[in-house]
Amino acid sequence: MKIARNLSELNEALASLRSGGRRIGLVPTMGALHHGHLSLVEEARRHADAVAVSIFVNPLQFNPNEDLSRYPRDEAGDLRKLEGAGCDLVWLPPVEVMYPPGAATVIEVGGPSAGFEGAARPGHFRGVATVCAKLFNQTGADVAVFGEKDWQQLQVVGRMVADLDLRVRIVGHSTVREADGLAFSSRNIRLSPAERALTPVLARRMRDAIAAMAAGAPPEDTLAAATAALRADGFTPDYLALVEPTSMSPWPAGQAGEARLLAAARLGEVRLLDNMPAHLPG
Ligand code: PAF
Repeated sequence: MKIARNLSELNEALASLRSGGRRIGLVPTMGALHHGHLSLVEEARRHADAVAVSIFVNPLQFNPNEDLSRYPRDEAGDLRKLEGAGCDLVWLPPVEVMYPPGAATVIEVGGPSAGFEGAARPGHFRGVATVCAKLFNQTGADVAVFGEKDWQQLQVVGRMVADLDLRVRIVGHSTVREADGLAFSSRNIRLSPAERALTPVLARRMRDAIAAMAAGAPPEDTLAAATAALRADGFTPDYLALVEPTSMSPWPAGQAGEARLLAAARLGEVRLLDNMPAHLPG
């Protein structure tokens, strides 16, 4: 497994990986890797001949109220896991390589960036879009794999790639969950044991709401009841909302079809995100 920490090391490693026309699959990450990330590496391997993983805790996607310095980091553990997963290249740029002094360009994606995480974390998707565009250009990846766990991020990146005619193909990979239903996330390690024990309730309330709506219960009442139940369970819900899956616009009342149910709820200091497909009978 090759490790690159500057652009010339990256270019050298990519030149040898690409030899014979081999295709590169990229998995962008911020490190603190878990099973969810490793399943993205496997997915990338299905779409490409060589897999590159980037590890970069991107300061541009944290807003001033979020603690960038407390984001979990474990470079040695990450490298061990990636070696075991058969990753070919790890791109580990320092901040000054990604954003050299004088850097003054950002990418602002409209459409799916609005609302939800875009509203809760102003500037977040600007940071995500900017770093992803740079990672796509730096690696020249043919395919990039993102987890569906961050559904809105996947739509924002897909929109940017379409709008800017970027050559990379974006692949979404279904959310990987622990045995009790909690979606894997690097932030889960910040949960106390009592909070961790409560987390599966979020996915359960979502599944129950989806089943009720599929059976004809009115979405507005169902989601209001599920939000109240989550509050009674001990969560601080931020949103529980049905959206059109790609544009992220609110699902029109009374419309039949395949929507996406999004949830964000705080438990202690951790903000849990989840999403699931929801069939609306109309
Ligand atoms: O999902 C993440 O870990 C990050 O938002 C990403 C896509 C690596 C960009 O920094």
